[in-house]
Amino acid sequence: MKVLVVGSGGREHAIIRALLRSSQVTELLCSPGNPGIAADVECLPVVADDLGALVELATSRKLDLVVVGPEAPLVGGLVDALSAAGIAAFGPVAAAARLEGSKAYAKEVMEAAGVPTGGWSTVESVDAGMAAIVGYPAVIKFDGLAAGKGVVIATDEAAAREALEQFLVERRFGEGQVVVEEFLEGEELSLLALCDGERAVPMASAQDYKRIFDGDEGPNTGGMGSYCPVPSVDAERVAELSAIVHQPIVDHFSAIGTPFHGVLYAGLMMTADGPKVLEYNTRFGDPETQAVLPRLRSDLAELLLAATNAGGLAGRELDWDPRCAVTVVLASAGYPDSPRLGDPISGLELIAAPLELTCAGVADADGALVTAGGRVLNITALGETPAAARAAAYAGVELVEFDGKQTRSDIALRAEEATE
Ligand code: AMP
Ligand code: GLY
Repeated sequence: MKVLVVGSGGREHAIIRALLRSSQVTELLCSPGNPGIAADVECLPVVADDLGALVELATSRKLDLVVVGPEAPLVGGLVDALSAAGIAAFGPVAAAARLEGSKAYAKEVMEAAGVPTGGWSTVESVDAGMAAIVGYPAVIKFDGLAAGKGVVIATDEAAAREALEQFLVERRFGEGQVVVEEFLEGEELSLLALCDGERAVPMASAQDYKRIFDGDEGPNTGGMGSYCPVPSVDAERVAELSAIVHQPIVDHFSAIGTPFHGVLYAGLMMTADGPKVLEYNTRFGDPETQAVLPRLRSDLAELLLAATNAGGLAGRELDWDPRCAVTVVLASAGYPDSPRLGDPISGLELIAAPLELTCAGVADADGALVTAGGRVLNITALGETPAAARAAAYAGVELVEFDGKQTRSDIALRAEEATE
């Protein structure tokens, strides 16, 4: 099987590592990738949103499968374009990726599908937004894609007004409405499922650490680390949750004639009133994927190809390594506001199996890697216990240096404490 992975982050690197373990894959490419990914597979200089060039590449290379990593090309119709050209593409068509592309649409779908979620209103003006707030903290979300920066938890009226003005007057992310949502309390959970248009096959439970500082302090980021599985969410509980948050969505899209293929990622809040969906993503999570896929023993290439066919996952169960995985993100100085670029990275050669290094914001400067984005690297370790996996991952983190390196020191601490 000849496979292309589209994207350039740590998530795509983790997908590539899992595909390299497949007995089915004979050729593996990445576009555009990054210099760290290029150490594993051939990278081609086609950016993820150049749909025409990607279709041309897939056709000329006679690819059997294209796996789309990021949300923007999914929302932009890459899977539609590849499918029209007769190429199997893993990911939802644009009409289904809208579930991630519009938070207002996601709420409508959740309501229609009977999925539990917080109360909400969609507003188009600052005054309507202020009127829709029922108490503080209030959750204010820009309706479109905003690279994780479109959600504000406002603790008072002034902060709420400022957020609404940013989104609706200053148009920080362009045209778009705003969703004002009920604030939910609890522990967050990332539950991903592979979907074949008819059924959702859930993956192991994971948790992401979104804030920059220990103890969930400071601004939101793309994610500072993750672990898998979550001790309180075993396979049985995963199946129960998936029946509530994945299958109804797959059934809904099937019923409206746009079957959902690809990853359905439910971001859940485990509230005192039960699980509620905060958001759906229509792709693998980053950095959850870096912790989830190293535990997958089933053949990923086979699964992803099967998911592109209606009902192709029938009868399949995923096989997991019983160990736990912990991923720590190494972020650049200044992240998330203004990541500093160009800092030389040292010590990479010291990261060896069983540690897994996946590369995100890196660039090549005269043959050496330098920082080139906010989230630079991910170090993942497997361990018999969360404590062992944490210790191994953090030992790896100590080996890699660059000026201003930022890491959280409490990734998976919760899992360690829960299993003590
Ligand atoms: P989203 O992009 O919608 O997942 O939001 C990003 C992050 O904001 C989530 O992972 C939560 O940490 C937080 N968040 C979003 N919606 C809510 C909510 N209704 N209540 C509390 N926290 C929220
Ligand atoms: N880990 C959050 C995301 O992938 O959106």
